[in-house]
Amino acid sequence: MRGQAEFSRKVISWYKREGRTLPWRGIRDPYRILVSEIMLQQTQVQRVLEKYPVFLKAFPSLRTLARAPRSTVIRSWQGMGYNNRAVRLHLLAQTVMESFDGKLPEDYESLHALPGIGPYTARAVLSSAFGKREAIVDINVRRLFSRVFWRMPTTRTMRPEKEIWPLAESLLPKKGVYDWNQALMDMGATVCRARNPLCDECPVSEVCHSRARMKSTVQTTSSKEAHYRGLPVRIRRGHIIERLRNIPDGASVSIHGIAAQLFDPHVPEDVPWLEGVLRTLEKDGLVQLKRRGRILRAALR
Ligand code: ADE
Repeated sequence: MRGQAEFSRKVISWYKREGRTLPWRGIRDPYRILVSEIMLQQTQVQRVLEKYPVFLKAFPSLRTLARAPRSTVIRSWQGMGYNNRAVRLHLLAQTVMESFDGKLPEDYESLHALPGIGPYTARAVLSSAFGKREAIVDINVRRLFSRVFWRMPTTRTMRPEKEIWPLAESLLPKKGVYDWNQALMDMGATVCRARNPLCDECPVSEVCHSRARMKSTVQTTSSKEAHYRGLPVRIRRGHIIERLRNIPDGASVSIHGIAAQLFDPHVPEDVPWLEGVLRTLEKDGLVQLKRRGRILRAALR
């Protein structure tokens, strides 16, 4: 299709002019690429830019990460949110040391079977670290393709992922797949933005079916997310880990101490609620719990 060829050409020439310089671009170390992809799964690029060098300084290789105590890894994840990722990355490093002689596997099945690696991250690592010819469809790519190749009524509308994949495969160039994938992500993140797309500055606006025609809709905060006393439980989990990060290794805090810090003032119902959340954090490998007398105490795992 003429539109597709023109689209590809314009994306690549835009990327050469406007692509972002990011510390995980143009490097070969699979470990460093993996760390960036895990961080970028759920954290904004700006925040990752701050935290990535700090984490790599603490754990410059898969081996150093695997050998570190879990609590040190969780502490180093500070400011990133979704702390389960730190636990999974730590487990991944240990698994790769034990089962793959310290080298990240280069095939999809083995990568995907590792802790914390879903279909997207497996493909991103194959493309970015091992130069494989893999299409990757993240939310940026899905939004960009939906808008360019279909007519989207609003800025929140997107085609289902299963319709995007065949298109992504058919657009994948024979050579230069790495640059192509990075270019699509940059287009999605900086021009074809979720809320305020910059159609006037877009290099592919001439071939875009939705150009400047989408109704802008306000993004509502996720209402499906579980809340407790006005805040998403996800945020409250982060606050609990934050509290535990600030105590020395070997020490612990009582459940009442945590409640007092999380809720001001705290009410009796907070304690059973908090115990439930602490149990899930324990199951996720982030926290260890013990009873001293009748009082539950917590520390980082
Ligand atoms: N999001 C996920 N992977 C990325 C990358 N390599 N560059 C920018 N944003 C990303």
